Amino acid sequence: MKQESPGYVVLEVEGKSVRLPVVVGSEGEKGIDIGALRRETGYVTLDPSFMNTAACYSSITFIDGEKGILRYRGIPIEELVRKTMFVEVAYLLVHGELPNEEQRRNFSAMLNINSMLHEDMRHFFDHFPRGAHPMHILSTMINALAAFYPNVDLKSLSEDIDQSTARLISIVRTMAAFAYKKSIGEPVVYPRHDLSYCANFLNMMFDSPVKPYQIHPDAVRILNMLFILHADHEQNCSTTAVRTIGSAQVNLYATISAGISALSGPLHGGANQAVIEMLKMIQQDGNVKKFLDMAKDKNNPFRLMGFGHRVYKTYDPRAAIIKRECHAYLERTHYSDPLLDVAREVEEAALNDPYFIERNLYPNVDFYTGILYRALGIPENMFTVMFALARLPGWIAHWKEMIGSDTKIVRPRQIYIGKTPVETVGVMENREPLLQ
Ligand code: CMC
Repeated sequence: MKQESPGYVVLEVEGKSVRLPVVVGSEGEKGIDIGALRRETGYVTLDPSFMNTAACYSSITFIDGEKGILRYRGIPIEELVRKTMFVEVAYLLVHGELPNEEQRRNFSAMLNINSMLHEDMRHFFDHFPRGAHPMHILSTMINALAAFYPNVDLKSLSEDIDQSTARLISIVRTMAAFAYKKSIGEPVVYPRHDLSYCANFLNMMFDSPVKPYQIHPDAVRILNMLFILHADHEQNCSTTAVRTIGSAQVNLYATISAGISALSGPLHGGANQAVIEMLKMIQQDGNVKKFLDMAKDKNNPFRLMGFGHRVYKTYDPRAAIIKRECHAYLERTHYSDPLLDVAREVEEAALNDPYFIERNLYPNVDFYTGILYRALGIPENMFTVMFALARLPGWIAHWKEMIGSDTKIVRPRQIYIGKTPVETVGVMENREPLLQ
């Protein structure tokens, strides 16, 4: 393929020249619009796992994976972490701008009004088996929301996106805390109108009739920071699931439920839980090198969890902030976690190992997150749920962007490599009918 002008590239296919337009993003990212390719040449492109495919235009989040830059709506995450609250970032992602004072108050009031779960839904929690993973419970419960609030469809986008957004962001937090309380056999704690978003969540998780929970502003600040850092990450696996499923005009709740299912995988959001499980194994064994060797061995499915990223080929900027805050928080609270020492040792060994250096494998957002969640008292099986709570505004923003554009239903093509027409004579004839 040769570049003929800044405006298009020319592709030669079987002696025929096809001009394909070049598109340039606001940060200078270049792409080739291949929309006309099949019509003009009969060819499709092949890109399994979308290693080299931009699936859409988006103005929500920018990542420079080489330089380690992450911005939401143009604002660097470092600045958002320093200056904003999670609910403001949620508003920013969904609406494109940080809220002014009036919008902030209105959004906060909507979160409060929508924080209660329909009482009939509360009883659903009684029927999940004890020990069920909270991510499975959460995706089921969110899907069920459409039965209780059936008017959430595409119409709600133009009429009431604030309502649907506030309900989801607020109610999912309540559901998550209820799922946890049920899993430990304690009565659920209802949301309170006088607490901020993160303080409310911690209170619903840890308050009990026999041991009132003391809300520590520092714990609230840390949770706020973690939620902001997880709030969006452009076209990752779960967001792509949301955009794909939403493109069939499925209701918002079913769409988000699909995003949660995608997030639960250990290569995606499930990695934060998998990191802690791995660090515990390394701590027990005491031999960091052995685990690095296992991760490098192509015949061994083991991978160094919390390391590597499809987009970042340098230190994940979220991991850099979380690592710094993790050290500082543990020191301030005199909370000693031996897994932090193991994590430091693993990171140092990996960053000095040619295998990891050559492949640009650095700690990602999940590497230190679990240690902070442990310090906040969050149980391991809730880690991925925490990720889901934080990612909700991102999913909703992408759904809104996708529905608001002229997106057609997502429907990739394939290169068929199965059998060509097969002769069935003799196989399909003279057979007894089956009962079922
Ligand atoms: N441990 C050992 N080797 C690795 C790792 C790892 N964690 N990550 C990548 N590699 C190797 C991989 O085997 C491949 O080697 P080779 O070129 O010799 O075949 C090379 O590095 C490139 O990796 P890849 O699998 O082609 O990269 P990918 O973009 O398909 O995968 C990833 C990205 C995040 C799934 C992968 O790095 C991984 O499995 N990491 C561990 C799981 C994890 O931490 N996931 C959280 C990701 S960040 C948060 C999120 O997305 O939710």
